[in-house]
Amino acid sequence: MTQMDSDWWKHTVCYEIYPSSFKDSNGDGVGDIKGITSRLDYLKSLGVGCIWLTPVYASPMKDNGYDVSDFYQINPLYGSMDDMDELLAEAKARGMKIVMDLVFNHMSEESAWFLESKKSKDNPKSDWFIWRDQPNNWRGIFGGSAWTYSEERKQYYLHTFGSFQPDLNWENPEVRKALYDIANFWIQKGVGGFRIDAIVYIKKPSDFADGKPDASDGTVFIHDMTANTEGILDFLHEFKKNVLDGKNVFTVGEANGIHPEELHRWVGKDGVFDMLFEFNHLQGGDIWYRPIRLSTLDVKKAIFQSQKATEKNGWYPIFFENHDKPRSVNAYFSEKANKELASKALITLLLTLRGTPFVYEGEEIGMSNVNWNSIDDYNELNSRSQYEMALQEGFSHEQSIGFVKALSRDNARTPMQWNDSLNAGFSLGKPWLQLNENFTQVNVASQEKDPNSPLNYFKRLSQLRKNHAVLLNGDFAPILESDPQIFAYRRTWNGKSLTVLVNLSEMEASYASQIVEGQTLIFSNLDGVKLGTLRPLEANIFE
Ligand code: NOJ
Repeated sequence: MTQMDSDWWKHTVCYEIYPSSFKDSNGDGVGDIKGITSRLDYLKSLGVGCIWLTPVYASPMKDNGYDVSDFYQINPLYGSMDDMDELLAEAKARGMKIVMDLVFNHMSEESAWFLESKKSKDNPKSDWFIWRDQPNNWRGIFGGSAWTYSEERKQYYLHTFGSFQPDLNWENPEVRKALYDIANFWIQKGVGGFRIDAIVYIKKPSDFADGKPDASDGTVFIHDMTANTEGILDFLHEFKKNVLDGKNVFTVGEANGIHPEELHRWVGKDGVFDMLFEFNHLQGGDIWYRPIRLSTLDVKKAIFQSQKATEKNGWYPIFFENHDKPRSVNAYFSEKANKELASKALITLLLTLRGTPFVYEGEEIGMSNVNWNSIDDYNELNSRSQYEMALQEGFSHEQSIGFVKALSRDNARTPMQWNDSLNAGFSLGKPWLQLNENFTQVNVASQEKDPNSPLNYFKRLSQLRKNHAVLLNGDFAPILESDPQIFAYRRTWNGKSLTVLVNLSEMEASYASQIVEGQTLIFSNLDGVKLGTLRPLEANIFE
């Protein structure tokens, strides 16, 4: 394997697919694997070389596949193992790889492993999950106690997420071995890598002590008690040795709460993964009625820190969206912002920062948040529990639904907008989740025809990235670091240098034009560029 081959994932664009919402091939209203296969040429046209599928394994779908019942089976809603093999082969024929999601912190309550574990205190899988006689005061990520009582076993089991997602006991070597076998099975099938779900939670503190309450009901957020517990990396180094070493697959861990200064322990030569999704630059917060609003400067600082931290060691996954987050054109900008320009501004960062871009389905056309006024319209469980929590805190319906509108995971999960025909060309049947009603204006087909659309902007910039080694390999140096509006940096490689200037604010901004002296404008999201000023949301690249 040459150095270049083994680093293929550093030089491509990854595209995240939420299978339920991407493309339905059989009219049941739910996207499926054949639907994905039918759109590979579209993805190729974006310059995508790697496709991350959120879980497609057998699952009761209480958390849309993040509650896996069997990692060796494909969910019949999505198709069959033959469909999966066909997708792998068709992707390969186009020079693309499929990346699977490993949900190794927990399983479904309906998995054979849990069904056995809960039968008694002494069955062969009795300690494959985490059982206690008494709960502590930890609150799960989807709200409520992190412990649920099993009548059958007469004990409580721990769940970081929903009560239907019991946490696996990583302390048990048999559990770890069973998980490594699963990953190796998928490597044998020819996948190109793994996105590893909720991985910071696999190690629990051994005393399971109560935490200092952070909510009026006396509970403490489980994340603050279990994320990144000492000893976690020993498990992960073992995973690396048993699964990854010597294989041409890459890994990107989902690591909420890991800070740039800790990255070196997680990625690169002494770490375990190739990349880590840390979330320090994303808008949000764990309790939606207490949202965290990052300013442009905060976002910039967070990204600059991660770029710095992965400069010499490891690699950075650049992303602004995923299936758990609101759409970026809403998250980072005001209601009034010109969404097309905003989308192009972010696409500019996505495709020119140092690292591997991860684009989420629909981001390339600037899909935006929904505007649903009833909680019954929302499918995903966190929206419902956050809404309830806000009501309980005394917020009105209007206020509570406002929090949900801003942060609901359903914002990102509405069906992909392919065209302006029935159900946006997503399905001939009734979609499992309502469409965003703006699909008649925002869709792939109309953007393909419009040379100025976000989609064509994405394609051109993706091509430019491919043709400029400096964008793929170049060093990264921040400029205008304390400017509150402009996100700016230089990429340099082999005597070549590119300067990227993006005004992330909705007001005009100015800068000292010397920073681009002697350079030529090669790319912009607006015509009529004037040195020294940037119109609202203007993005320029100089060479
Ligand atoms: C993170 C996933 O991205 C999210 O969708 C899921 O609900 C949780 N992990 C639990 O698996």
